[in-house]
Amino acid sequence: MKLSLKTIALGAVVASMAVAAPIEKRETNASRITACFIGLVFTGAWPGSCQAAVAVNMGLIQSIAINQMTMDFTPADPWAPTTSSDSVVATMLSIPGLTLPITSIRQHIILIDNGVQIGNIETPWADASVSGSTLTTSFPTSTLGVFSDAHTAFSSFVGSISTKAEHPLTLRGSVDAKLNLGLLGTRTIPGIGFEAVVPMTGLNNLDPIEYKYLIDTNFDSPGFIYLTTIINIVNPSHLTLKLGDVAFDTAAASGRVGVSTIKDLALVPGDNYVMSATGLDMSLPASTDFLTNLSSADGVLTLTGFEGTSSDVALNAGLGAMTSKLVVPQNFEGSVMSQSPFKDWSLKTLPSTNTDRKVEITATFQSPYYGFPLEMVHATEPGMENFASVNNVSPTANSMRLFLFEDTLTYSVSGTGTVTVTFTATLGSLASSSKARWEEVIAYGSANGYVPVDFSWIANVIVNNDGISRYVDWNNFSTGLGDVNIAVGSDFASILNAFP
Ligand SMILES: *[C@@H]1O[C@H](CO)[C@@H](O)[C@H](O)[C@H]1NC(C)=O
Ligand SMILES: *[C@@H]1O[C@H](CO)[C@@H](O)[C@H](O)[C@H]1NC(C)=O
Ligand SMILES: *[C@@H]1O[C@H](CO)[C@@H](O)[C@H](O)[C@H]1NC(C)=O
Repeated sequence: MKLSLKTIALGAVVASMAVAAPIEKRETNASRITACFIGLVFTGAWPGSCQAAVAVNMGLIQSIAINQMTMDFTPADPWAPTTSSDSVVATMLSIPGLTLPITSIRQHIILIDNGVQIGNIETPWADASVSGSTLTTSFPTSTLGVFSDAHTAFSSFVGSISTKAEHPLTLRGSVDAKLNLGLLGTRTIPGIGFEAVVPMTGLNNLDPIEYKYLIDTNFDSPGFIYLTTIINIVNPSHLTLKLGDVAFDTAAASGRVGVSTIKDLALVPGDNYVMSATGLDMSLPASTDFLTNLSSADGVLTLTGFEGTSSDVALNAGLGAMTSKLVVPQNFEGSVMSQSPFKDWSLKTLPSTNTDRKVEITATFQSPYYGFPLEMVHATEPGMENFASVNNVSPTANSMRLFLFEDTLTYSVSGTGTVTVTFTATLGSLASSSKARWEEVIAYGSANGYVPVDFSWIANVIVNNDGISRYVDWNNFSTGLGDVNIAVGSDFASILNAFP
């Protein structure tokens, strides 16, 4: 069996050599490389002439595609970002009748952009598999060492990747391959040369950026209004990037308005929901213009890289070339939460309810902010009136306050989780003038098992553990969520006993 395979394979090589003989030199090399690997697989032989044959740039490996690549620009040395890839596919010379039994490889790569060698990557050993002439592998986190005389060229490479849809990068170097030769054992063949132009997909300016939701408006810094917004940055590339804190100069139609900042920006291919803080500098006339115009039309913000885009010098020169548009909808309308901040409300009376108006509320909370964790710091604060008012019950009962929040509700919830909390709240007025309305609400509750309410609720929360206290508007209108039904039980009717 083994012998016949060998005969077939050798026969194929002889045939391909015969055809290749009169053609150009490269084909001759291909035949020699083919013969070398067939010799290796079937006899274990690897003479010096074979080592020389595979060392050439255009030898065994014909082309390379990087289907995914991660680049992390957050290491302290800006000229030593790290890279990794979970999918590198190399097309090798097709060797008739033979699949090379390569089990792992390590790579010594030199990156060449626009003819300039910009840096190198030395990868550790990583598993590889071969199917036909296709070799599939990956490489774990490895440092990309930018050459000291190539800083400018590297920044211009980052600029090209940031602003273009596609950018060709040349990879040159060699791989060391481990082959499992069965009875002949495992052999390592070092120094298999390659040179390939790899079409890298770029960020294409990350344009346009999608506006999703305005979390809050902050007036704490004199002269500035900070709008914190969830935006979706759609990354069209195969690159996963860790960029650290970035900032973009921001302009409206009539001029500059300030700077937009994104902390710890990390991008995966496809959708990336991130929190962006735009500081409107109110000393700039365009800022007032922009806010005024928002009441009658959408506002277009242009985000542009500038000298302060990143504190990473290698990245800054490149990202500085980016420019992208963000359309802020008129009155911030139409932008929606990813899900309701709350659900499953219920109300229970307590033994003391008819004297102190305290009731027990239970509800389930979740993050409405596109996967960002949320902490409720104050459900209400002195001087604020946060409450649930009756809606859609009857003309007389509607707008009556069912309960007022106290500062007793605190919780933390992950971006995707839920948390059910029971807390106390205070019923609306039980003065005798309210008796008729309560009768209607209680009749509705007894008949339906719930009371429909709208919230008027400005809560003090922290989003994404950033330590910034934000006043978020969770009223019925801002959330666009409609009525909330508060479940009530048979105890609800006992509230009527509070009235003489
Ligand atoms: C063929 O191999 C020789 C060395 O063995 C090398 O000098 C030459 O560049 C190769 N030709 C091609 C087209 O790769
Ligand atoms: C506001 O609207 C006016 C009139 O349409 C326009 O000329 C101006 O450029 C707008 N300003 C901004 C900042 O959008
Ligand atoms: C609450 O929101 C819903 C839907 O957004 C709306 O139909 C309803 O009129 C609102 N109620 C009040 C009192 O604003």
